[in-house]
Amino acid sequence: MAEETLSNLLQEERTFAPSPEFAAQANGTQELYDQAAADREGFWADQARKYLTWDTDFTEVLDWSEAPVAKWFGGGTLNASVNCLDRHVEAGNGDRVALHFVGEPGDTKDFTYAELHEQVQRAANVLSGLGVVPGDRVAIYLPMIPEAVVAMLACARLGAPHSVVFGGFSADALRSRIADGEAKVVITADGGYRRGKPSALKPAVDDAVSGETTVEHVLVIKRTDSEVDWHEGRDLWWHEQLEAAEPEHIPESFDSEHPLFILYTSGTTGKPKGILHTTAGYLAQCAYTSHVVHDVHPESDVYWCTADIGWVTGHSYIVYGPMALGATQVMYEGTPDTPHQGRWWEIIADKKVSVFYTAPTAIRACMKWGEEFPNAHDLSSLRLLGSVGEPINPEAWMWYRRVIGGDRTPIVDTWWQTETGAIMASPLPGVTATRPGACQLAVPGIDLDVVDEAGNSVPDGSGGYLVARSPWPGMLRGIWGDLERYKETYWSRYKGLYFAGDGAKKDEDGNVWVLGRVDDVMNVSGHRLSTTEIESALVSHPKVAEAAVVGATDAMTGQAVVAFVILRSEALHEADEEGEGGELVTELRNHVAREIGPIAKPRQILVVAELPKTRSGKIMRRLLRDVAEKREVGDVTTLADSSVMDLIKEGLAT
Ligand code: WT7
Repeated sequence: MAEETLSNLLQEERTFAPSPEFAAQANGTQELYDQAAADREGFWADQARKYLTWDTDFTEVLDWSEAPVAKWFGGGTLNASVNCLDRHVEAGNGDRVALHFVGEPGDTKDFTYAELHEQVQRAANVLSGLGVVPGDRVAIYLPMIPEAVVAMLACARLGAPHSVVFGGFSADALRSRIADGEAKVVITADGGYRRGKPSALKPAVDDAVSGETTVEHVLVIKRTDSEVDWHEGRDLWWHEQLEAAEPEHIPESFDSEHPLFILYTSGTTGKPKGILHTTAGYLAQCAYTSHVVHDVHPESDVYWCTADIGWVTGHSYIVYGPMALGATQVMYEGTPDTPHQGRWWEIIADKKVSVFYTAPTAIRACMKWGEEFPNAHDLSSLRLLGSVGEPINPEAWMWYRRVIGGDRTPIVDTWWQTETGAIMASPLPGVTATRPGACQLAVPGIDLDVVDEAGNSVPDGSGGYLVARSPWPGMLRGIWGDLERYKETYWSRYKGLYFAGDGAKKDEDGNVWVLGRVDDVMNVSGHRLSTTEIESALVSHPKVAEAAVVGATDAMTGQAVVAFVILRSEALHEADEEGEGGELVTELRNHVAREIGPIAKPRQILVVAELPKTRSGKIMRRLLRDVAEKREVGDVTTLADSSVMDLIKEGLAT
């Protein structure tokens, strides 16, 4: 975020205190802060016992002796799927709707907790019939359909960590994630509906598991009824298998630290990191934050999180948090503007959604489409709004509050990461007077700070880096197969502090403002992308000699991918003949989409003759960002050849 925007942000002084009515019914209270401050570990022990059903109670809260790998709730055993299903059915809430599914074409179907419970038991029996045992990995590559929830909870029931791969990722991205996690089974679908038409998934799986692979079986869910290639012996129809399976499955009880899932996220190198989460601490923090931050009242709320199951938000705030509470939620398959730009608001009115959780990029898109769309629907059921994924600019926050929240609902801006597992910083909606644009403060039990280069806490009014000072239950337990990278990435910058990779400021009132990544990671529409990963994809194209990628500020998507490429001489010739090289640029953009996925497609590709490098050969992305954001180019004195920037600017001007 540019400095000038920053100082505007920090002058933001509007605050919105919770209404007495909201405060009176809120789950999150001031006492939580007091209790956590008095005894953090005791506080978490209380939450773990309050929110989870244990088969064996734990005997130790935190074991940090093998730091930075934490062990929470040692000696305890439980089953995550039992906590999300069985116990609600046993408590007499089996008839409560768990999911109001809304398909993009308009088909709808409700699933009660009892129905999901049965589906999950059948699916668990199918998987164990295929030889899946505790500890085996199962890859899940699905659209936003209820079976995605069933598949995840069936894996959890078996103690087989799932590795969900976002359905928008390419076959190559899927292949490398399957290979890294050594998945035994893949669960996919023929396709899903997107932007008014079926979008195939099975071909990417066929491609990803071709050749040498650890995958023994592919379970295929029928959603779009499209033609699929079939590999006898390997491929199995999900519906046939579930139908034939026993409806009952006796769950095993697992250790608190039993691996629950792996989820890949982009880092500063080309290779995505498999973030590892374990069972009890993660589930406890998800349930607790769903309860106190999203203020979910399972008996009366209709909750809707618009994230895809392929991202951590879908894991923590569609599956594990809300379902551990036994909440009723909406699950929507498609895009917000299909078939019209009022689709979300229509669904909110129709299902009487009361708690709504989405991303700033979506709010900005809705602002652009115009308030006539939300205004055409009755949104009076809403009582709380949430935001996640990137900084929300105060104007978008104000619009969200006024147009969607009727100037009435609190907004919780929640900061967290794939690595943190669950929400770390956010106002508590019944306690905190909210400030547009800031995630404000650590939730009770979490120990965050903003520190300077030396690791010292900065005073109010100053900026630095966001860190966690103490371990927390939902924290990652490592990077799959790479303990060293885990230590190096998060724990080497400051001794004993978790380095989140985000820049942050404290305002004069002590509120925390997260400003964005300080590493080579971009945030495009709330999705994390690695500059290096996109650079590797570009360089893998035969016409590209070298590439540098930067995240440039973008009014709609937060950041946008801008690539600078040096072509191989043969290709350069071709580009000249085509004039602007337009076709080549399209070819390169599509190449990136094929290699990684459409979300990684550069907004802009600029063909240049040279890249700015330091004497040690490091690309100075800061200068390229200046060009991409059409700013005066900054200090070039550390460049090996200071004329390079002039060359780039000249080249772009012609
Ligand atoms: C990165 C984590 C957490 C689920 C979605 C993204 C940015 C996230 C906020 C927020 C400012 C935010 C950070 C963080 N981020 N929430 N409320 N305000 N920035 O998960 O893909 O792991 O990305 O998203 O830069 O490090 P993720």
